[in-house]
Formats: sequence, C-alpha cells, structure tokens
Amino acid sequence: MSFQDKVAVVTGGAAGIGEAYVKALADRGAKVVIVDLDQNAGSTVAESLVKYARQALFVKTDIADESECQDMVAKVCDQFGGIDLLINNAAIFQGKRKEGLLTIDSAYYRRFMEVNMNGMLWMTRAVTPEMRKRGGGAIVNQSSTAAWSGGDFYSVSKAGINALTVSLSRELGAHNIRVNAIAPGPIDSPATRSTIPADRIDALMSQQPLKRLGEMTDVVEACLFLLSDQASWITGQVLCVDGGSVTRL
Ligand SMILES: NC(=O)c1ccc[n+]([C@@H]2O[C@H](COP(=O)([O-])OP(=O)(O)OC[C@H]3O[C@@H](n4cnc5c(N)ncnc54)[C@H](O)[C@@H]3O)[C@@H](O)[C@H]2O)c1
Repeated sequence: MSFQDKVAVVTGGAAGIGEAYVKALADRGAKVVIVDLDQNAGSTVAESLVKYARQALFVKTDIADESECQDMVAKVCDQFGGIDLLINNAAIFQGKRKEGLLTIDSAYYRRFMEVNMNGMLWMTRAVTPEMRKRGGGAIVNQSSTAAWSGGDFYSVSKAGINALTVSLSRELGAHNIRVNAIAPGPIDSPATRSTIPADRIDALMSQQPLKRLGEMTDVVEACLFLLSDQASWITGQVLCVDGGSVTRL
C-alpha cells in the first residue's frame, strides 16, 4: 500500500500505537503530522523521521480543545497544503484511573470523555473541510474491544466512538470521506503492561481463539488497509483486531 504524498494526521502519534502508525505511513511515502500533548516525545519522533528524509511535522495540540484542533489544521495546511487522512488514536490510556462509574471523580470523568470520545469529533470537524477541498479522504478511529466487554468509563468512551464512527460515516459519505474504526484487543506495549494487570491479560488470552497478545504490526496493517484505496467501498465499520475475542453474527 502506497500513501505517496498523502498528508496524514495522527493524534497521539508521539508514543505507542500512534507512533507505529506515524512511522508506517512515513515509510510508505506519506507526509505525516504528529498531533500530541507531549512536546518532547512528539518533536523527537518528527525529528527522527526528518533525519531519514521523511516529511514530518509535530503540532502540539490538546484534542479536547476544538480551537486547538482548528489551529493545528491551519499549521498543517501552511506546511503541507491540505489533509487527506486522519487517524483519531489519542486517548488517556496509560495511567488511566482504575475506578468504577459510580465513584470516579466527576471532573476526571468529564475530562476523560472530552479527550477519549469528544476529542475525536473535534478533530474530525476541524479536518474534514480540508478533506472536502481535496475531493475526499479517509478517517480511522481507534476504538477497543473494551467497547463490548464493559467495565468502566473507558468502555463507555469506546462504545461512543463506535457510534460516532457509524454516524459520521453517514454524514461524510456524500463528500467521499470514509470513516471506520479499529477495535484492538490488548497490544503488547508498555502502556498495556502498565495499565492491565498481568493476571487479567492471562485470563483474556486464555478465552480468545488466537492465544497471544496483539503486535503493533497487527493493528498497523489493519489501519493502513482501512485508510487505503483498497478499502474504497468500506465505511461505517468497526474492525476488531483482537485474536477473535469479539465475535458478532
Ligand atoms: N495498548 C493497547 O493494548 C490498546 C488496546 C485497545 C485500544 N487501544 C487504544 O489505542 C490508542 C493508543 O493506545 P496506546 O497504547 O498507544 O496509548 P498510550 O497511552 O501509549 O498513547 C496515547 C498517546 O495519546 C496522547 N494523548 C493523550 N491525551 C491527549 C490529548 N488530550 N491530546 C493529544 N494527545 C493526547 C499521549 O500523550 C500519548 O502519546 C488509544 O486510543 C487506546 O485507547 C490501546
């Protein structure tokens, strides 16, 4: 799959799965935009790509702030002339509080939902006018199998993302903008190891058909497919990349 000269915005691109998306797109010719709160990590990723003759830009942005999303779009258009692709990946994941819906501090809950669910909408609203100017585009939202397993506010945010994905695909289809989501199971990453207790990971693995953690490459390849022209008639779908743990008939 080639993304030669496509402009791709990846939120949460400074670390973890987002960084893997950024590098995979840059390797396939895209001009990549790393959107993240983490200035140091984001600039380091951009600089390391530029050193290898890739086109990369870091724009510090809080996705929970719609005006910051719009400012980011203006900077990207100044530098790269437009936007073709968006991966809405950023979320509060590593280090998220482990508490139930009935007791979680309400200010924390509001901020969490503003980042993990509404941020994807603010980013989509900021980016899609530029996609329309280019005749279309593709968006992948990062969900999770937690959308089906329930548990806490994280699950609520991911179920919301699935619904956002379907609703936005309907609003944006007429503009040739496709909107899909990926729902990964646990991916072997530092964030997973520090967020999900080891015995919980073992229990999850024992229940799923393919008994291993996901690798970065598993989600990267699925995401690139959904962004690519090979998926040009696919929209409004949530693709589970999870070793078969979630099955729907
Ligand atoms: N790691 C897994 O096993 C797993 C499984 C299913 C889904 N996911 C989802 O994949 C995505 C990435 O997960 P990860 O493991 O790479 O997480 P991570 O915590 O390592 O990375 C998240 C990135 O998002 C950035 N971010 C957080 N809040 C932000 C904000 N307000 N504005 C801009 N950037 C912000 C962080 O700085 C960080 O760089 C998340 O949406 C997560 O929910 C992860």
